[in-house]
Amino acid sequence: MIQGAPIGARLEHCTFDNFEVTDLNREPFELCLRLAREGRPGVLLMGKNGVGKTHLLVATMKAFDRRLEGARGEAGRDGLVRVPSAADLLRMAAGEAEDGPRAVPTLSPEEIARGAHLEYWPLLDLVCELRLEITRGNQEVSRRCRECDLLVLDDLGAERVTDFVLEELERIVDWRYRTLQPTAVATNLKSTTEISAKYGQRALSRWSASCELVTVLGGDRRASMKPS
Ligand SMILES: Nc1ncnc2c1ncn2[C@@H]1O[C@H](COP(=O)(O)OP(=O)(O)OP(=O)(O)O)[C@@H](O)[C@H]1O
Ligand SMILES: [Mg+2]
Repeated sequence: MIQGAPIGARLEHCTFDNFEVTDLNREPFELCLRLAREGRPGVLLMGKNGVGKTHLLVATMKAFDRRLEGARGEAGRDGLVRVPSAADLLRMAAGEAEDGPRAVPTLSPEEIARGAHLEYWPLLDLVCELRLEITRGNQEVSRRCRECDLLVLDDLGAERVTDFVLEELERIVDWRYRTLQPTAVATNLKSTTEISAKYGQRALSRWSASCELVTVLGGDRRASMKPS
C-alpha cells in the first residue's frame, strides 16, 4: 500500500520496464531494482531536471509493493486468494511477464505476514503536511514516515530549509537509520558537498551509511516531449 501524496496521472505509468536504460543511468537503475527486489539498501539519486529520478522512484515503489502482493496472492471479491498459474510462472521465468524475472520476490516472513507500507512525499508537500500536523496537535504523518517499510522522498532541496524542517528531517532520518528501514531520495542537489551544506554532516553521514548515493546522468527528457 502506497500512502502519502498522490503520485499523479503524469507519472503513474512509470515502471522499470518502460525506463530506457543507457550507460548514463544504468547504475541508478540497477540500484533501484535491487532496492525493490531485496528491500535494501536505500538510494539517494542526484541529478538534473528530467533525467528520470522520479520515474525510478515510482518504479521502485510499485515493484517493492508488488513483490509483496505477488507473494501473498491477491484476494478477489469473493475473498479467495488467487495465486499465479503454472503458465504465468513459466512466462515470468522466461521473462515474458510485465516485470519478468526482474521482479522476483525475496521477502522475510514478517513482511509477508503484515503487508508493506510505503510513503511517497515530495518534500514541499511533506513539509506543508508536517506544519499542519503541529497546528492540529497530532504526529500521524511524521510517525508514518519514521515507521513505514519504504520512505520515498522526492525533490529533496526544493523546500526552504528552516530549523523546523531540519529537526523533522533529522528525526525521521535518524529513526530510519537506527531501525534499518530503507529510504529512497531524489534531489537536484549536485553533490554530497551540497547536501551536507544544506542538511548538515550528521544527516549526510546517516544517508551515506544506509543509502547508495548515485548520480543519474543524461539529458532533460521533458525537453523532447510534446506538451500534454
Ligand atoms: N530513462 C528513461 N526512460 C523513459 N522515460 C524516461 C527516462 N527518464 C525520464 N523519463 C521520462 O521523462 C519525464 C521526466 O522524468 P522525471 O520526472 O523522472 O525526471 P526527474 O529527474 O525527476 O526531474 P526533476 O528533477 O525535474 O524532478 C518523465 O515522463 C519520465 O517518465
Ligand atoms: Mg522528479
